[in-house]
Amino acid sequence: MHTTLIASMGSKPSLQVPMKWPKIPWTDRLLLFMFSILLDLSCRFNGIISCCLRPFFDPRTAANPNPVSGVCTSDITINSSSNLYVRVFVPSDTNIKGRLMPVIVYFHGGWFSFFSASSCTYDTICRMISREACAVVVSVNYSLAPKNKFPVAYDDGIDVLRFLDSDQIRSIDILSNLELDFGSCFLAGDSSGGNIAHHVARRWALSTQNWKKVQLAGIILIQPLFGGEDRTESEIRLDGAPVISMKVGDWAWKAFLPHGADRNHEAANVFDAIKLGIEEAFPPALVVVGGFDPLQDWHLRYYEVLKVKGKQVKLVEYPYAIHAFYVFPEYNDTGKLMEEIKGFVQANRPI
Ligand SMILES: *[C@@H]1O[C@H](CO)[C@@H](O)[C@H](O)[C@H]1NC(C)=O
Ligand SMILES: *[C@@H]1O[C@H](CO)[C@@H](O)[C@H](O)[C@H]1NC(C)=O
Ligand SMILES: *[C@@H]1O[C@H](CO)[C@@H](O)[C@H](O)[C@H]1NC(C)=O
Repeated sequence: MHTTLIASMGSKPSLQVPMKWPKIPWTDRLLLFMFSILLDLSCRFNGIISCCLRPFFDPRTAANPNPVSGVCTSDITINSSSNLYVRVFVPSDTNIKGRLMPVIVYFHGGWFSFFSASSCTYDTICRMISREACAVVVSVNYSLAPKNKFPVAYDDGIDVLRFLDSDQIRSIDILSNLELDFGSCFLAGDSSGGNIAHHVARRWALSTQNWKKVQLAGIILIQPLFGGEDRTESEIRLDGAPVISMKVGDWAWKAFLPHGADRNHEAANVFDAIKLGIEEAFPPALVVVGGFDPLQDWHLRYYEVLKVKGKQVKLVEYPYAIHAFYVFPEYNDTGKLMEEIKGFVQANRPI
């Protein structure tokens, strides 16, 4: 059921697509149905309607300094003029005192246009990652499209890394008793958040001399949102799969990319830029692929181009996984994913 496939160097990775669609509980079907209505309305009204409907589709939760599921949280303002904040997740396990903790900067998904660091969905996911990987997770409330187009979300990501690189970090209560290992920071993200993690990693790698403390030790891309004008085989074959469709994807890229740009813009179609040359410092990558995700061909291409450039990259496949499977607690691939993230973080820390 939950095979992990790591394609060996040189061989073309391929997914063994299961014959049947995975069983999705009715509660998830309802959620997916409502979410597809929201997306559809957003496509029609260019994002405006989503503000009124958001509380129904995207409930939020406050930060909580008391442990919930073994993790404490706190919201921290990074830049008051751009209204950028992060939610920080710290394991409450008392054994961590004095231990050097890895830091994972997380970018949530949602087509660049939906959700936030305080969305219940992402609060839960980051809490899980923090507990399982025993890491401090910094979840970025980046600016959303269509109001904020490319490259504002990437700029926000860099602003957060700069904040972590500065001495301001010492003034943060929730972190004051901890030893943070900025020498092995990880960037992680799902869907559009995976796209942001990739671009922020490249910007960091282009300017390594400008960073005092922050070193990237790895990036974790969970079903990252990449694209291009040409449709891939999997986009056509799996169009209409849960959560994601070509129609919504096309809208989301229009909402995010500069006016007049098409999906071959470097933000979406990252492959030519990687082929031209990827920075020496670009960190090892973990790429997570789902067998029912229409985006899977982009993921396999990403894996291949990095491999060809001699980068360390690991591909993990969940044959039954739909796009955004980790949002649904019933999807037991989520447990596997957490183990995978934990293993990747441990394997890529120099100590
Ligand atoms: C804070 O945001 C403002 C407005 O977006 C920007 O001009 C400035 O460079 C940011 N400051 C830092 C330290 O990131
Ligand atoms: C986080 O981002 C969302 C969406 O852009 C915004 O509505 C919310 O006000 C932000 N939260 C904070 C605390 O800045
Ligand atoms: C995981 O899900 C599959 C299919 O939904 C189910 O058959 C299996 O028993 C589940 N495994 C666990 C450990 O819950």
